[in-house]
Amino acid sequence: MDGVRRALLCSRNAHKARELQRLLPGWSVEPLVVDDYPPETGASYYENARAKAEFGRAVAPADRWTIGEDSGLEVAALGGRPGLQSARYAPEGAPAIARLLGELDGVAERDARYVSELVAISPDGAEVRGTGSLEGRIAGEPRGSEGFGYDPVFVPAGEERTVAELGDEWKSRNSHRARAARALLAALAGSLALVVAGCGNSDPTVQRVLSRFFTHSARARALAARFPHKPGAIPCVLHSLQATCSADVSLVKPDRAVITLTEAWDHGAQAHTWFFFIRQDGTVESVVEEGAASP
Ligand code: IMP
Repeated sequence: MDGVRRALLCSRNAHKARELQRLLPGWSVEPLVVDDYPPETGASYYENARAKAEFGRAVAPADRWTIGEDSGLEVAALGGRPGLQSARYAPEGAPAIARLLGELDGVAERDARYVSELVAISPDGAEVRGTGSLEGRIAGEPRGSEGFGYDPVFVPAGEERTVAELGDEWKSRNSHRARAARALLAALAGSLALVVAGCGNSDPTVQRVLSRFFTHSARARALAARFPHKPGAIPCVLHSLQATCSADVSLVKPDRAVITLTEAWDHGAQAHTWFFFIRQDGTVESVVEEGAASP
């Protein structure tokens, strides 16, 4: 388990632990098994997610991260219900779907969205957060067998099939939870970058990691020309637009690092970021991309 972040997901929902295991590269996510979780009384998904992570922090082994996740389905024609109450609207699966379709019987306006909020607390108590949503509409009848909860009646925007038909693979790239997980990884890399920034541009390990990275993989070589080869930002040109290209290295452990490359344009209003999770030998373990498409 060397270099892997071990985390406990503070939820009874086994589907979520399975999804998060796929969504957080470099993490091992297991469910925290306890008899009674405190009731969800927060006024927002964030408050509930944080309460779950804090509850886990109090009971989990000291070396684990704890993760709280709170999510829900918001249906426009129902004024945003079931929302925070999604898990308590009716028992998950067929009963909840039957109640939802009953409430929407004869209703033409079927816009809806899924929301997910993730809060992770590190062994030393630092909090990182990520939010994601997925727009769509409620189908007339359930279709498909993958996913869970309301997935058989949720049709994402731009799709004809339900999430349960599109499947778990689709979900791992596009779901509200996938987006929240990417935002969480981005926030984590950002906060770690701040820690490492204290080392300064002259830190020899940081320099070595970055130079080796730019020569190693084809993907990194393709980006090497426009990004600085030491932590910091330089002006660059993206399709004739003035932009800024910056590089940072974080999480420099004996055997793992995250290289963050960001190109920002339109006076910083638009940005695209690559997070390269790399091993000690410079090989890339995984890449997460965030933000606007490059101009
Ligand atoms: P909680 O976050 O455990 O309070 O409950 C979230 C509830 O929202 C679940 O029980 C589901 O009913 C619904 N939900 C959240 N995420 C999904 C999803 O990815 N697919 C289908 N239903 C979901």
